Amino acid sequence: MSSVPAHGDVDVAVVGSLNMDLTVRVRRHPRPGETVSGSALTLSAGGKGANQAVAAARLGARTAMIGRVGNDAHADTLLDSLTADTVDTTHTVRDTEAPTGTALITVADSGENHIIVSAGANAHVSSVDIDAARALLASARVVSLVLEIPVDTVVAAARAARSSARIVLNLSPVTELPTTVLALADPLIVNEHEARELLRSHGITGERGPGQAGGLLGLGVRSAVVTLGADGAAIAEADRVQHIPGLRVDVADTTGAGDAFTAALAWRLSRGDTLADAARYAIHVSAYSVGRAGAQPSYPTADVLAAGGSPMISPSS
Ligand code: RIB
Repeated sequence: MSSVPAHGDVDVAVVGSLNMDLTVRVRRHPRPGETVSGSALTLSAGGKGANQAVAAARLGARTAMIGRVGNDAHADTLLDSLTADTVDTTHTVRDTEAPTGTALITVADSGENHIIVSAGANAHVSSVDIDAARALLASARVVSLVLEIPVDTVVAAARAARSSARIVLNLSPVTELPTTVLALADPLIVNEHEARELLRSHGITGERGPGQAGGLLGLGVRSAVVTLGADGAAIAEADRVQHIPGLRVDVADTTGAGDAFTAALAWRLSRGDTLADAARYAIHVSAYSVGRAGAQPSYPTADVLAAGGSPMISPSS
């Protein structure tokens, strides 16, 4: 890429977190105060931001990652993993004050996970980083914003990108944002639990799925997507609300499936797909991901997906 990139040089720029995922599998999650035995510890590249960047790049997007890691061995692994997947790391800064972010993850036999994040360097991503990445952001067709970094930074990134890029906002975890920033989300993406929390906090009611997606438009967003696990997703745009059916899969590990969904959606939107078509594709990608262990290790390439993806996938009834 030249030093002054042109608009369209980057398909998806992700502003968000990078973590080293420390994962142990357990038969079932422990109750409060209980100790359970787990599998051997595995370390893999994660963080909602980096997961999106890698997932989009594997599908064919020209992708860039804006965020921070520490100056430690975990940072080397995370940067190597991004580079191996051709993600532009020019604006993935090494922070000298804080360690690389870490996520402590347990995955039960059901595939359900519990995650505790220690933010580390992610907490230092600031408007200074956004200013430094201004030319890169201006070159992106889609800018995807992740809420595992300071809210002020997300706000600065949204404002920096609003005139040149479509903004995809995954509000996970649910965080209060200025209405002027919510108004830029196209779409706002949340899962059904996050949708319920968000709608309740704004005094809006909506039935699971389409009702929730339609309700989210009441927050002023341009469009909304509510992910529904095996039941697919509900999407809402100004003129209609739609349910996109899901895929039944044997669930191995749901870690990072939402990030794969958002990345795939962002990639397809950057190519000009409709929201409904992009969501159909994203459901396929996230279904592939839940059939395999880990976040980034579970993401498919475009070739794998085109070759039929996982034999475990079948349309849900
Ligand atoms: O969404 C999954 C991700 O959440 C993990 O990779 C972990 O790092 C946390 O950020």
